[in-house]
Amino acid sequence: MNLDGDVWRRVSMGEGMTPIVSYNGNVFLKMDFMMPTLSFKDRGAATLVSHMKAIGVKKCVQDSSGNAGVAVAAYCARSGIACEIYVPEGTSPNKIAMIEGFGAKAVVVPGTRDHCAEVCRSKVKEEGAYYANHVYNPYFYEGTKAYIYETFEQLKRIPRHIFIELGNGTLFIGAVLALEHLMRSGVIDEFPQLIAVQSENCAPFYETEEQGSSSLVEVTPKPTLAEGIAIGKPARADEVLDMIRRHNVKVITAPEDRILPCREEMSKRGFYVEHTTAAALAAYYRYCEKFGPTEDALLSLCGAGLKSEH
Ligand SMILES: Cc1ncc(COP(=O)(O)O)c(C=O)c1O
Repeated sequence: MNLDGDVWRRVSMGEGMTPIVSYNGNVFLKMDFMMPTLSFKDRGAATLVSHMKAIGVKKCVQDSSGNAGVAVAAYCARSGIACEIYVPEGTSPNKIAMIEGFGAKAVVVPGTRDHCAEVCRSKVKEEGAYYANHVYNPYFYEGTKAYIYETFEQLKRIPRHIFIELGNGTLFIGAVLALEHLMRSGVIDEFPQLIAVQSENCAPFYETEEQGSSSLVEVTPKPTLAEGIAIGKPARADEVLDMIRRHNVKVITAPEDRILPCREEMSKRGFYVEHTTAAALAAYYRYCEKFGPTEDALLSLCGAGLKSEH
């Protein structure tokens, strides 16, 4: 059943179907910074804002470490929906400039990303505003699922190892749901090895796995260049943990001191990515050190380098 009709045609800006290119023979890169707002969040923003437009939302609020806010602001601008985006202090100035450039109000909240989410949610409760949040709103995941569908369409198979940065889990959850769908439909008969990437300075899922805890071990984030995944208390922790255990997902951390060298390595090969994306390569190398050479690996180039010039 398609409740939203074809509203999406007026909202979409051609996001998705980003190329997959070879990095070094073992690693494939999905060029997700080649999207209208230069990050993978556009897939989810396109589906969420299409739904909002279809049900007549006129104004929304949301909180973000930056990229999701930029994406929602852009698709709202295209759809004539007013929006207010809450970002934590320390968010890259270029992300804030993009949010404001799209005509949205950017509210910078002192403190951590987790605190920023709490402030935004109180605003939702007080004012009854539509919460266009990428973590809570299920329509967002309908978009992020396409990461896997596109990969299958492009390669005619699913790579054996898929590295996914994990903060709140919007790409992670979408990818798992899509892979489960492909398995159920008989399109693939083997689940790939998923590897969830966390920042060494903010790794609640890694800590939980290390301690073998049945519920999430919350952490207080220490400063990290990987701002996109600096989430100490992920809102969908139980769901993510369940997926980790259901599919034997490995969780790996990106060493903080390797993020900038990886960013430089990628730049020298023509890929100009943001710090959080460079963290995925740093985590790939750490994974190889721990588990041996890892062929046929897919990494998402989640965000463009010009977004994190600090
Ligand atoms: C560049 C980048 N990579 C990865 C992520 C992780 O996404 P999530 O928090 O949904 O797991 C984000 C989130 O904002 C991001 O900006």
